[in-house]
Amino acid sequence: MAAFVLLENGPEMVASWINLSAGVQVNGTPAFEAAHGKDIWSYAVGDESFSKLINDAMACGARVVTVPAIIKGCPEVFDGVGSLVDVGGGNGTASGLLVKAFPWIRGINFDLPHVVCDAEQSHGVENVGGDMFQSIPITDAIFIMQVLHDWGDDECIEILKKCREAIPKDNGKVIIVETIMEEEENLGDELKSVRLKIDMAMMAHTDKGKERTLKEWDYVLGQAGFSRHNAKHIRAVHSVIEAYP
Ligand SMILES: C[S@@+](CC[C@H](N)C(=O)[O-])C[C@H]1O[C@@H](n2cnc3c(N)ncnc32)[C@H](O)[C@@H]1O
Repeated sequence: MAAFVLLENGPEMVASWINLSAGVQVNGTPAFEAAHGKDIWSYAVGDESFSKLINDAMACGARVVTVPAIIKGCPEVFDGVGSLVDVGGGNGTASGLLVKAFPWIRGINFDLPHVVCDAEQSHGVENVGGDMFQSIPITDAIFIMQVLHDWGDDECIEILKKCREAIPKDNGKVIIVETIMEEEENLGDELKSVRLKIDMAMMAHTDKGKERTLKEWDYVLGQAGFSRHNAKHIRAVHSVIEAYP
């Protein structure tokens, strides 16, 4: 987890925490933007080492906890999936692990061009650069992990609409890996405080990002035109939501 510690304790992220109270109490400016003059993803385009640190930090969690928990906890999600695009897949760690576990899948790791140019080369995974707000490669299914929580509802709905356009109307699906926050204050498992901390981190590091309750997921998925979805809990802070056109 060294990359994660280096990222959260590095000057860029610490500066955004320092600007959080003023953003919340005084001027409403997102904390990362107040500290650096632009949002985190625009900043990362111009700073190669910061961009690499984000990707390495995200890959730690994916490799050690989240993807193994998905593979063990709900392998049926990948039954019959011939091609899978990992939207915002970073350095391709998740795609590589999923294709290794489910070798019938042809994987595409899709992220911004400056990110995929440094991505891992894994057997069965192609790296494709692009912008998820513009278009996403056509595929049987989409995997999108810890991406939607970086964005406010309007952007989230836009991204989900692009996901829906990329999959077949009859049997396509979007596999979302995100936290599901408890609606009631006195409910929750032992990981509830971790989810609340991630929510705070989204507030500090992104413009309008947040963790969502099931009701909030219902709202964004409905607005993006998905007809139904279900949530599966795994042994991790995240859950798996399957959404159907
Ligand atoms: C929090 S990281 C998640 C990485 C990976 N999915 C994981 O869970 O380890 C969010 C990812 O979204 C990508 N991203 C941000 N804006 C994007 C865009 N417009 N199009 C495609 N990817 C984007 C970032 O480069 C980053 O890799």
